[in-house]
Amino acid sequence: MYKTIVRPLLFRIPPESAHHLSITGLKMISKIPGATTLLNKATTLTDPVLEREVFGIKFPNPVGIAAGFDKQAELFEQLANLGFGFVEIGTITPKGQPGNPSPRLFRLPKDKALINRMGFNNIGVDAAIAHLKKRKTNIIVGGNIGKNTTTPNDKASDDYLFCFTKLFDHVDYFVVNVSCPNISDLHELQDRKSLTELLLVLQQANRRKEKPKPVLLKVSPDLNNPQLDEVIQMVKETGIDGVVATNTTVSRQHLTTDKHVVEKIGNGGLSGLPLKDRSTEVIRYLSEKSKKAFPIIGVGGIFTPADALEKIKAGADLVQVFTGFIYEGPLIAKRINRELIEKKEELPPVAG
Ligand SMILES: Cc1cc2nc3c(=O)[nH]c(=O)nc-3n(C[C@H](O)[C@H](O)[C@H](O)COP(=O)(O)O)c2cc1C
Repeated sequence: MYKTIVRPLLFRIPPESAHHLSITGLKMISKIPGATTLLNKATTLTDPVLEREVFGIKFPNPVGIAAGFDKQAELFEQLANLGFGFVEIGTITPKGQPGNPSPRLFRLPKDKALINRMGFNNIGVDAAIAHLKKRKTNIIVGGNIGKNTTTPNDKASDDYLFCFTKLFDHVDYFVVNVSCPNISDLHELQDRKSLTELLLVLQQANRRKEKPKPVLLKVSPDLNNPQLDEVIQMVKETGIDGVVATNTTVSRQHLTTDKHVVEKIGNGGLSGLPLKDRSTEVIRYLSEKSKKAFPIIGVGGIFTPADALEKIKAGADLVQVFTGFIYEGPLIAKRINRELIEKKEELPPVAG
């Protein structure tokens, strides 16, 4: 029904409006008595085979929602009812900010892809916390943190630390996002020196806590192998808990959408099917080169159970979806989890 009725309707309206409409729809459904239980039953699979302990957290299943879908931490409970094992909220910045001017989200249906240049539009950390405080379920929530656009790079660690400190009691793990292609100069923070300093600042604050929380780094698919080697080194040096691979790409290779259409869209991060192989390649490289030294959350172009299994076999301990969720609909987590149960003997052990 999603692909035949809901998606064609949603795809008739601009992508960002469709996103807001879906959010409103999910919120409304959750208010109908009994609907949440029904939805949960229809979309959720529970099985010991799916449970995984990764960076000290017990996940009910390995399929999560990637950052950017619930930027304002307003939908994570509803998403939990769609069978996802965890939800990554954000990217959250210290102060709320509007992001880039619209239009800033584009569909490439021929390629099963999206291009976005949202630019960290979010309500700011305090407003996000107000939402998180209302958490009724025990869904695992990751806090994806960033810096405000107006904050210069030499002050970036203040922003990340501010969000880290404020969110500490309200999320289960953290993701440091320095790989978004839509914030000018953010990529400079991926430079080894800046990034090591930033991660050490966060780790110092983390280690002062009675029970430190897992900190992961989200990496770009556009890093080359020497840069990925540096990532492995940085994880070791700073003692962070893992990597999320990958963010969106600035590449426009392997697209079937008309070149002029793509050019007209302009800058932004490409996600979905065209990203799938590159993201898997990055996961495999990090996993093999580090000898599975740390856990990896694999994300990029997962649409089918086979795509998820491919990521897991390449070295991902957990997976996340975003564009695949838009194209495939609310049963995506269930479909993937069902196949993981069926192919349980093919699942490798967790890293770290
Ligand atoms: C509209 C949109 C907004 C996104 N916003 C964020 C974000 O705020 N922070 C982040 O770390 N990643 C963000 N991402 C990247 C996704 O989390 C994910 O890494 C990427 O889209 C690849 O996965 P996919 O191919 O399943 O979409 C966003 C992606 C899209 C499509």
